Amino acid sequence: MSSCIYPGSFDPIHNGHIDVIENLTLIFDKVYVAPLINKNKKGRFCVSDRILFIEKALVDLENYDKIEIVTFDGLLADFVVENKVNTIVKGLRNTMDFEMEKEMAHSIKLLDNNVQTLFFPATPKYSSISSTIVYDLIKNNGNLKSFLPKDIVEMVKQKTEGLYE
Ligand code: PNS
Repeated sequence: MSSCIYPGSFDPIHNGHIDVIENLTLIFDKVYVAPLINKNKKGRFCVSDRILFIEKALVDLENYDKIEIVTFDGLLADFVVENKVNTIVKGLRNTMDFEMEKEMAHSIKLLDNNVQTLFFPATPKYSSISSTIVYDLIKNNGNLKSFLPKDIVEMVKQKTEGLYE
């Protein structure tokens, strides 16, 4: 069975992530979506809220049965080996993403030479979306129509209340 893991902060998940996940379900038998803590970033939503958003955003996808949402503390390289996941997938929007992800992929190779990382280019219309932009739009009451699935807009807005002054 072919499997992949799509890790990220998903803080929060947005249409660009969902597009990648939807495409991955067409390629792999099993797709692990993994909201993880990026210890180099200040998080916005707690992991349990991020999982709630992810579940609600993905539940109506045609191939939802191929998706499993997982989270863990520790190294991605260890998780993929322990769970026999074939491939790590990273989405790329631009050359900055590429440089950062290349460094990460090389480091993972140094940890375990058998772990493969695959880069997945963003669909052009999603290539400038980021969780940072989404969060800024929420805080400033912007129109989220092109950024978040409509099913999670209210939930994300509600969870945002109280997170900032
Ligand atoms: O969406 P992000 O913030 O770019 O995701 C980064 C993430 C969470 C995928 C990355 O920080 C990660 O893999 N963290 C788990 C710890 C780990 O394995 N780090 C890489 C060491 S080579």
